[in-house]
Amino acid sequence: MSVIELRGIKREYRMEGKPSSKTKKTSGSVVVVRALRGVDFCAEAGEFISVMGPSGSGKSTLMNILGCLDKPSGGTYNLDGIETSKSDSDTFAYIRNRKIGFVFQSFNLLSRTTALENVELPLFYRRRKHDEKKSSSASARKELAMTALKEVGLAERIDHFPSQLSGGQQQRVAIARAMVNDPAFILADEPTGNLDTGMTLEIMGLFQQLNDRGKTVIMVTHEPELAAYTKRIITLRDGELVSDVQVHERRNALDDLAQWKKDHVLLSEDK
Ligand SMILES: Nc1ncnc2c1ncn2[C@@H]1O[C@H](COP(=O)(O)OP(=O)(O)OP(=O)(O)O)[C@@H](O)[C@H]1O
Ligand SMILES: [Mg+2]
Repeated sequence: MSVIELRGIKREYRMEGKPSSKTKKTSGSVVVVRALRGVDFCAEAGEFISVMGPSGSGKSTLMNILGCLDKPSGGTYNLDGIETSKSDSDTFAYIRNRKIGFVFQSFNLLSRTTALENVELPLFYRRRKHDEKKSSSASARKELAMTALKEVGLAERIDHFPSQLSGGQQQRVAIARAMVNDPAFILADEPTGNLDTGMTLEIMGLFQQLNDRGKTVIMVTHEPELAAYTKRIITLRDGELVSDVQVHERRNALDDLAQWKKDHVLLSEDK
């Protein structure tokens, strides 16, 4: 069964103002921006997909819909067997909190909170809202958060605050936080946009490892070199899905990282 099934997804934004080439004029000064014009898209468990396309093509609009942060103007979205378009706002929020793990370009960690506490946060929300036994005790929450931090290789840093961590380590904490609820998939919006080459390769390597262990990942990126680390690339243009290709020879980010480190060390020794 598909984890994600989008059928004929449309998203129109109605706004005041002058029409441009992308908008269609309606009565008065209201214009309608057609950000998504009927997108069909399915994803299976275990996929690693990049979403590409020029600026304004509808990537963020699509991510907002996939992440249940926004509802489409038309079409249907079935997530893990649940028809989201028919769900009320409570169910919609529940789906968002339990089924989706978010990773952002700017990490979005709480600065006065340790790595461990940042990762525990989604579990508090789950307890308050749904009182699930599995995460209801402080020790159970701590254990789940520790396991997630171990999975991203940060077992030694659990008591560090974000300011005491490198950018790559902060993004690892954010990835642990995204995984702690065992979501149906992880949505990452340009997750390495704020990182240097080495850290970018580390984070791509981590996503590849998580994906090899069965995690489903969907990532927006502008960089073809990063899309080459995923298994499938979909491309949007003017609100339509114009291409959907499998990556046949997926690059290995950790191999590329090892090579990059070699070159880097050689360069500094040469000096
Ligand atoms: N809240 C909004 N109100 C009106 N128009 C919007 C809104 N959000 C997005 N749009 C328009 O919808 C279209 C798609 O925008 P979107 O943000 O999805 O593009 P994108 O592919 O993410 O671009 P980028 O690569 O620059 O982030 C654009 O024409 C944009 O101007
Ligand atoms: Mg965007």
